[in-house]
Amino acid sequence: MCGIVGYTGPLNAGEVLLNGLSLLEYRGYDSAGIALFDDQDISVYKQIGKVKELKDRCADITDVSHCGIGHTRWATHGGVTNVNAHPHKVGKVTLIHNGIIENYHDLMERYKLASALVSDTDTEVAARVIEHYYQELQDPKAAIWKTVSELRGTFAFCVLFEDVPGVIYCIRRTSPLIAAATPNGAFAASDVTALLEYTREFFVLPEDTLAVLCPEGAFLEDAAGNAVAPEMLTVDWDVESAKKGGYPWFMLKEINEQPRALQDTLLPRIENGLPDFTEEQIPDDFLKRCKQVCIVACGTAMYAGMVAKALIEPLLRIPVSVHVASEFHFSNPLVDDDTLMLVISQSGETIDTLDALRLGKEMGATIVSVVNVKGSTIARESDYVLYTHAGPEQAVASTKAYTVQIATLYLLGCRMAMVRGKMSEEDAREFVQNLLQASEYEQQVIEENNDAIQEIARHIIQFDDAYFIGRGLDYSFSLEGALKLKEISYIHAEAYAAGELKHGTIALIEEGTPVIAIATQEPVYRELLSNAIEVKSRGAYVILITKKGAHAPKKAYDVQLTIPDVDDRFTGFPTAVCLQLLAYHASNEKGLDVDKPRNLAKSVTVR
Ligand code: AGP
Repeated sequence: MCGIVGYTGPLNAGEVLLNGLSLLEYRGYDSAGIALFDDQDISVYKQIGKVKELKDRCADITDVSHCGIGHTRWATHGGVTNVNAHPHKVGKVTLIHNGIIENYHDLMERYKLASALVSDTDTEVAARVIEHYYQELQDPKAAIWKTVSELRGTFAFCVLFEDVPGVIYCIRRTSPLIAAATPNGAFAASDVTALLEYTREFFVLPEDTLAVLCPEGAFLEDAAGNAVAPEMLTVDWDVESAKKGGYPWFMLKEINEQPRALQDTLLPRIENGLPDFTEEQIPDDFLKRCKQVCIVACGTAMYAGMVAKALIEPLLRIPVSVHVASEFHFSNPLVDDDTLMLVISQSGETIDTLDALRLGKEMGATIVSVVNVKGSTIARESDYVLYTHAGPEQAVASTKAYTVQIATLYLLGCRMAMVRGKMSEEDAREFVQNLLQASEYEQQVIEENNDAIQEIARHIIQFDDAYFIGRGLDYSFSLEGALKLKEISYIHAEAYAAGELKHGTIALIEEGTPVIAIATQEPVYRELLSNAIEVKSRGAYVILITKKGAHAPKKAYDVQLTIPDVDDRFTGFPTAVCLQLLAYHASNEKGLDVDKPRNLAKSVTVR
């Protein structure tokens, strides 16, 4: 996610901004830039690459500026280029932005900007609209208010006006932005990590409220110009814990980031309520004529692929296969130029997955990758890339990457169904609306289930083994749940198709053995319950995960966890959060390193 820093006051603004951006590097980015007031105009220094390289470039600046804004960009709209880097300077206006302007195409048309644009970013469009109103109204505040009244989407803006030296105008909607006034001037930032050297007291800008920063302080006002009192907050974090946003572990931070990550990943690919892959230029005619889909990945990414298969295959009625990447390479796979190969990888660097991509390409497949890291090897070697916008995933155990991968694949599947006449526009709209609501389902679990899950974790850490069972989609969820638990709690956890238990595994069930039975799929709910009764009657401690309101006899479970009562196709999002929290609490209760489990790396770049 992008990083923002603003400063105005007696200190050297260039130094404050560059140091602040360095502290925000953990947010992930691919380019960086600053804008500085020097006398009567504004100078912009920006480029792709690391903050250190930007620092080297700025080392030649001789004038000391006392006001400026800085930005690290995690590319969403528009590729990783110098021109697309922020800040964007348009006439007398200079802007940095974190978020996604959903209606920037409409604004481009309304203000006839196409021929004027020098970048392919939604941010430049917003800057040009502010400049348009600044020329018309000759008032910075009025220009900002008028502009944001026309924006749809998410934003955190810091704006400089050449005629108003020393002043920074800030406003946000959904995207994070904080501000602080200190004896050393006034600051703005995406999060407090960037400011800890100067202050531990700050306030979060209320949404759609303007903050005016000047050396004398930081002043909030509403659209009517009424002063708004800031709600002051204080942190006692050190920089390291601040990078975790105050969470004890990156994994818990990233679990909590999922609702936002889902929105950030989906919104740029939804136009008028329907899936839209214009930006990625994936040709509809190939989506329409491909004869099979091969999904290739490792670990959690592969399990995301299994969930996608369960949706796409019955919808499209074409073969959809899921392959372990490390096996694909040696399986002489049935791939040809009618094959759509979906390559899923959070890091974009997993060597087994890269090998599989290269083999598939040699065999004529069209490669569409779903990747979280911009410019990674898998992304660069794909024919088309669907970037997920989850922000950096630091914990080895993948969480937000998994759910945004599923969401991205679901959206692609919906587009394929539309172009193949398998889904009407009306049904597609409903599907997309349901998919966007998955954020709410995830948030509900985070808020309502956490304590109960922590209690369950305290129980299961007494055992060396645990089993996850499910049918249909629930089986796919159980595979990911078992992986999460085993990789960070070191409990031997296995997942089984529930119907398979009687064919051997049930011999392993002893008194108290934890069995997580996932029962969110209505067509097979009764069968799953009977499997749960079977293991419980042999002594298992059954944790039953169902939709709210689903009835289950007491002989089927010891503890019941419920998720929102949603369409079967979307239960994976809240279920995933339950299973992530179960693994997290198990590891944490055992006093283990949740973020860096033994023997594991975040990206497996060796065969
Ligand atoms: C998941 O929690 C693991 N860290 C691991 O299975 C991971 O999903 C796998 O190594 C694939 O990584 P990738 O998505 O970066 O390719």
